[in-house]
Amino acid sequence: MPQATAAAATTLAEAAASPTLLLLGRRADPAVERGVICPGAVPDPADPDLVERARAARAALGDAVFILGHHYQRDDVIAFADARGDSFKLARDAAASGAPHIVFCGVHFMAETADILTAPTTTVILPDLAAGCSMADMAEIAQVEAAWADLSDAGAGPGHTVPLTYMNSSAAIKAFTGRAGGAVCTSSNAERALRWAFDRGEQVLFLPDQHLGRNTAVRRLGLSLDDCVVYDPHQPGGGVEPARLRAAKVVLWKGHCSVHGTFVPAHVALVRAKVPGVKVLVHPEVRYEVVEAADLVGSTEFIINTVRAAPPGTAWAIGTELNLVGRLAQEHPEQTITYLNDKVCFCSTMNRIDLPHLVWALESLAAGRVVNPVRVDPDTAGWARVALDRMLALPGA
Ligand code: 13P
Ligand code: SF4
Repeated sequence: MPQATAAAATTLAEAAASPTLLLLGRRADPAVERGVICPGAVPDPADPDLVERARAARAALGDAVFILGHHYQRDDVIAFADARGDSFKLARDAAASGAPHIVFCGVHFMAETADILTAPTTTVILPDLAAGCSMADMAEIAQVEAAWADLSDAGAGPGHTVPLTYMNSSAAIKAFTGRAGGAVCTSSNAERALRWAFDRGEQVLFLPDQHLGRNTAVRRLGLSLDDCVVYDPHQPGGGVEPARLRAAKVVLWKGHCSVHGTFVPAHVALVRAKVPGVKVLVHPEVRYEVVEAADLVGSTEFIINTVRAAPPGTAWAIGTELNLVGRLAQEHPEQTITYLNDKVCFCSTMNRIDLPHLVWALESLAAGRVVNPVRVDPDTAGWARVALDRMLALPGA
């Protein structure tokens, strides 16, 4: 297998021309929304003292650090989180924390968001910079700008189209959205955000998750599947006729989550046949056909609250990331909880935050060294903040 060489590619063109495979942690990858270099001595995963080391570093840091953990994090990492949540709750927790250092156990776009929402004096640390998001990587800012130009050429765009970007996107795309009069949304508020956008324009450009956009537009707002078109950034003009592009109510970016995209309607049929009375509960990043076949759909926070509130003895098949489903099963022995997929389906990038990286980040900080800071440049941060503030100001947010 070809190995990454010391000569790192620094531009997209160089990366494309490079015959080598990228090894995570060895060099920068300009084709993704996050970096991949993790400099320094990360402890050996086999070190039996990792938990004790993490505890000691955490205690030494006291109020100087606030640890945020997304629900998809591993058990041994989430055990150290001062606050757990979905991406929406963690954005709010970051903004409210007041700590000088935030260690973000989640993925890169979440750490960027925390940096944007906190004071310039706060440092946000991502224990492994290779913890990106494959969905966020499906929309690059240059592609989004090209799509906006295609929409304008088709007679849509400014004055007609309001961009909405899912939290799972780069800071550059959030900034574009802010400049173009749009807002950020998460899986907990996508319906409110879509209604907000339709109060301001005729059409919504929904980035980068086609499934969340379609599921919300059709199932919550009552639009039809024909009201939506899919814009493919790899096709000229997005692969959509200009007249169709202009007429659509919702232009869905052709992106998806590689974890939630694995669920298919057959999984629902199978679990219903195997577990009598089972309720199927899925995240809105799953395909439309799967949501249609399920009983309930909602964000990770919704999934957790639904299981918590259910009477003992309820049987659930849950379609979301496996760390969360496994933890729900452990925390709710009074319920019967099964995974909706017949395959093991962790989010591989969420899982890059492991105990060795957490220990490394905390011990370095205790020794006065900030490793893996995530910083968004002030202009990008300013416009991204505009789009984030519009989300935070949504009614009921
Ligand atoms: P939430 O918005 O539910 O936290 O989801 C984030 C995410 O990455 C889901 O795949
Ligand atoms: Fe991205 Fe999917 Fe992982 Fe969420 S679960 S961080 S959308 S790849």
